[in-house]
Amino acid sequence: MQGDHDSIRAVSWDSTALCLLDQRLLPAEERYLWLDNSAAVADAIKQMVVRGAPAIGISAGYAAVLAARNRCAENALDWRTGFEQDLAVLQQARPTAVNLQWALQRMRAKAADLQGDPVPALLAEARAIHAEDIRANRRMGELGAAFIEAGSAVLTHCNTGSLATGGYGTALGVIRSAWAGGRLTGVFADETRPWLQGARLTAWELVRDGIPVTLLVDGAAAHLMKQGRVQWVIVGSDRIAANGDVANKIGTYSAAVAARHHGVKFMVVAPSSTVDMQVASGAEIPIETRPASEVLELGGRALAAAGAEAWNPAFDVTPAELVDVIVTERGVVEQPNTAKMAALMK
Ligand code: MRU
Repeated sequence: MQGDHDSIRAVSWDSTALCLLDQRLLPAEERYLWLDNSAAVADAIKQMVVRGAPAIGISAGYAAVLAARNRCAENALDWRTGFEQDLAVLQQARPTAVNLQWALQRMRAKAADLQGDPVPALLAEARAIHAEDIRANRRMGELGAAFIEAGSAVLTHCNTGSLATGGYGTALGVIRSAWAGGRLTGVFADETRPWLQGARLTAWELVRDGIPVTLLVDGAAAHLMKQGRVQWVIVGSDRIAANGDVANKIGTYSAAVAARHHGVKFMVVAPSSTVDMQVASGAEIPIETRPASEVLELGGRALAAAGAEAWNPAFDVTPAELVDVIVTERGVVEQPNTAKMAALMK
C-alpha cells in the first residue's frame, strides 16, 4: 500500500529481473538498475546500491530466484550445486545485517523440497518476504507511535525508511505513523557520516513524502538533546542480540549515551528478522569495516590531508541497558534483557 506519506519503493521485482533504486546517486539522481543475476545483486549489496538491513534481505531473496533460474538454464538436472555457491557469495556481501542470512536461509529451506522448476515457488517466497516486511513496518509504526506523546519532537540516525526496507520503514515507519497521527512537532535527522544516509536519503525521502525534516551534523545531537528539543531518539537496527544489545549505524551508540544523559528516551525499531538469538550479546556481532576512502573523500574529492589514515567501522553496538524500548512486529520489549527477548522470540 502506498500513499499515507509513503510513496517510495527502492526494491521491486520486474517480471524477470530485480529492480533497485541506486542509492549511491541520491538525491542528485533517481536512477534504477535492473539486475538479472545473483552475482550482480551481491555486488550491488556490497557497493550500497541497496542498503538497510531489511532491504538487503529482500534483495537477497529475489537474488536467490535469479540464481535458481540461471543455474537451471545451465543444468536443469543439477542446479542446486551452483545455487548453493551463488547463495554463499550473496551471504558474504555484508556481514552485520543478519536479515541477509535470515532471508537466504528462508530461500534455502524453500528450495530444499522443490521438485521440477523451482522458480515459481522461490519467487512466491521472495515476494512473501517482501510483503511481510511492509506489513511488519506498518504494525511497528502503530506500536512505536503509541509511545510518543503528542507535541514531541524526535531525532533519528541513518536511513531506516522505505529506502532501507520493503517500504514504509522501521524507525522512519514509526515517524511516518506519529506524523500522520499529528503527534510530532518536529523530525531531526543526523547527517550520518561518512556515507550521509541522513542527509542524502532520510532527508530526500521525508521531504518527498511531505514530512518536514531538519538536518544536523552528528556532533550536534548531544547539544540538541541538552536544549530539550527532542523527547525521543528513534533508530533501526542491523542485528539485535539475544540480550537486547543493538548493532546499528556508527554513531547510534553515542546518540544513546547522550540520550540517557539528557533524559531523552531511546527507541529501536526492527522486524523480528533482525533479531539474532544465536548471538548472546553484542560482543559477538561482526562489525563491518568499510574502505578508508569513504572517510577521506567525498564524491571522489579528497577531504582530508594527504597522508592521513582513516578508521571506518560501519556499525556500533548500543548496550541493552541504554535502550528504553525495542519495537518489533511481534510486540514491544521495554528495558530489554535476555529473558524478555526470549519471551518475544519464542
Ligand atoms: O550501512 P547501511 O546504510 O546499510 O546501514 C543501515 C542502518 O544502519 C540502518 O539503521 C539499519 O539497517 C536499519 S534499516 C531499517
